[in-house]
Order: sequence, then structure tokens, then C-alpha cells
Amino acid sequence: MQDVQNMHGDTKWFTHDRFGMFIHWGLYALPARHEWVRHNERISNEDYEKYFKHFDPDLYDPGLWADAASNAGMKYFVVTTKHHEGFCLWDTKMTDYKAPNTPYGKDLIRPMVEAFRSKNMRVGFYHSLIDWHHPHFTIDRLHPLRDDPNREELNQGRDIRQYAQYLHAQVRELLTNYGQVDVMWFDFSYPGENGKGKDDWDSENLIAMVRELMPNVILDDRFDLPYGWDIKTPEQYQPREWVKVDGKPVVWEACQTFSGSWGYHRDEESWKSVDQLVQMLIDTVSKGGNLLLNVGPTGRGELDYRALDRLKGIGEWMYRHSRSIYGCTQAPDEFVVPQDCRFTYNPDNKRLYLHIFAWPFEQLHLDGFAGRVEYAQLLNDASEIRWSERKNEGDLLTLHLPVQKPNVTVPVIEIFLK
Ligand code: GLC
Repeated sequence: MQDVQNMHGDTKWFTHDRFGMFIHWGLYALPARHEWVRHNERISNEDYEKYFKHFDPDLYDPGLWADAASNAGMKYFVVTTKHHEGFCLWDTKMTDYKAPNTPYGKDLIRPMVEAFRSKNMRVGFYHSLIDWHHPHFTIDRLHPLRDDPNREELNQGRDIRQYAQYLHAQVRELLTNYGQVDVMWFDFSYPGENGKGKDDWDSENLIAMVRELMPNVILDDRFDLPYGWDIKTPEQYQPREWVKVDGKPVVWEACQTFSGSWGYHRDEESWKSVDQLVQMLIDTVSKGGNLLLNVGPTGRGELDYRALDRLKGIGEWMYRHSRSIYGCTQAPDEFVVPQDCRFTYNPDNKRLYLHIFAWPFEQLHLDGFAGRVEYAQLLNDASEIRWSERKNEGDLLTLHLPVQKPNVTVPVIEIFLK
């Protein structure tokens, strides 16, 4: 048995690369109204079968997805190998409920892994601990049949230990048959009354197996053990500061959607703007975190035109500004960040990046910076930014800005410290 309590994945590349693509894809792309549609509408296996029978993403080309991710500046991806619905995207030997048995007829994961690897991107597998389709997954407070009058009777024949064996066997397949996997993203535990947690998943043995098969893999924190995880995973909100556990800063990754749904949702309109998304990425790195930004491909196998639009806009900003993201983290506390701005900091070359969310009129004041700056430039065009200092006023350094905001989503000033 691996000593999972003291084993950890390799997060060095992760905290350098900062930005990844989450991909939520499955049968739920066909109802196209959220990946929790089975839960929300209490849909039985039988009534959900029509989506299995009609799943045929004939336009699927993972090379296009990898291009869109890479051009947006993303350096890794995490794809749902199986979501809560139980449908498997890869050619698993453990069930017939898989992509090769749909009209599409093939493994979806292998070409995706190959396409993203060809773009030098790291590979991550999301794997749902929850499985609303499996015959031995007991009906609980989240299950689509939770209100079925025959629920107790239906549960009589179910043995969660058999489901746990299935769960472990599939994770073994994924960590054996697809080459190096850099991130394993389990989702999620809900212990307590009528819930499921570490005992249901047999988490201790699951994580020991993961560490045996892929020792350096990065593990998320949702398998209900207080140890063995590598990253904390705040979801759908921006932490106010660097995420801490027991008072100590930890490696963390915020996962966020473009709109209000992880899976493709045709009619959901709360799509974030490019400005909001770029500011979200900057804000995350300014607090020492990673951003995993989600796309929900359609039932034809394409990225939604709205997602492609946002990815293009993010990519345009990253093309000239990725230096303020890759290899950067939270700036030292001594640097007081001005209002409506964020600092990121590259500790290797000691460069400070000032991201300006609201463009001020001609002047931007940096308290305590007098005598500390050797040179400053706008990152988008490397045009010099001059400044003046007033030693007698709290070591104030005032940057002199052009009246017009540079024609970029978020202007960044690269500050070379003495
Ligand atoms: C929540 C949602 C799940 C989604 C996950 C992504 O757990 O229930 O649908 O896959 O967040 O982090």
C-alpha cells in the first residue's frame, strides 16, 4: 500500500503554467440544458437512453479544440472521462455504457489526448466518483431517483462495494492505457446523511492505486480524505486571497465556466465577457493560483461559437501579455497595489507586472516605490513609461501614463526592479 499521506504530485510545471482548459462533455450535451439534467429533471436510466442512442458527434475534431486552447494560452487540459451520468468517453472494458457503443462508435479520449499532447499541453482526467447509471450505485440524496416511491426497494439489490470496485478498475484503465496523466481530478464527495464519501469510494485504496500507477500526478481535493491531495479547487468564485489550509498557503486552482453551466447549455445566457475572463485570470495569478476555464462542447463535437469567441479574445491578450502570467505568482507583500490594479510577480527575474483594470488619467501612484524601479514599459508594445519620485512623500513613485488607454483588454506595465 502506498503511503498516500506523504506522497505528492509534481506541481512545479502547474504553478508555472497557470492556465488550463476544463472540458465537460458527455451525453448531457444533447439535452443541452446542464450536465446535472438527470438530477434536475429526475430522469431515469430508461428515459435517458435516447441520448445514448443519438450520440454521434460527427464534427468532433480534437485538433481544433487543442488549437483553440493553445492559442488562448492554455497549457493543460482536464477532460471529463465520465461525469455523474455514468457515460464513459473512452473504450472501457468495464461497461457497455461508453462512446464506442454509441452511433459515433469510437473512443473519444485517445484522439483528444494525442491532439493536446501534440500542442505540448499537459493531460488531465476529471473522473466522477458519482455514477447515476451504475446498477450498484445506491440511490442517495443527489440521485435522479431520490424521490422514487420504490427507492428503498430499488436500493435492496445495490451494493456500493461493487460500484467501488468498478470505480477503481476504470481509474486503473485510465492511468494505464493513455500514457502520462498529469492531473487526476476526482469529483465529488458529499458525506453525511444520505450522502457518499471516502468509505463509499474506498478512497484510501483508490488514491494508493493512483500513486502506484502515476506517482507524480497532481490530485485534487474532492475524494474525502484530509491528505493525499495536491491542489485545493475553489469553484465558480474568486477567492479573496491566496487559499490557505491550517493557515498555510497551498497550491490552488479556481475552476470557472464561461456561462452558468459546465456542460453545453444552449439557452443559458450568462456568458462572461473577455474583459471579465482576462481579469479573472490575472486576479487568480495575483493570488498565487491557477485558472481552469471550462468549455462544454456540443452534441456535434464542436466548441460553442460563444466559447471560441472568448478563447480568441483571451488569446489576443495572452499573445502580448503571457509574460505576466507564466512563471508568475503573488507579489511580495511589501508592494502596495494601487486601486483597480493587480500585481503579478516573476520571482526568477524579479519583474513586477502592474495590471490596470481601470485606466487612470495620466498618473498612477505607487506608494513606497521611490528608488526601487530601474525601468518600466507597457508590455503590449514595449513603449517606455516614465515616472517621477518624491522621496519626502512616503517614497511615492508616480507613473506617467498616456491619456489614451492602450488598445488591449487589460494594459500591463512591466516594472524592472533595481
Ligand atoms: C460541481 C458540479 C459538476 C462539475 C464540477 C466541476 O461538482 O456538480 O457538475 O463537473 O463542479 O468542478
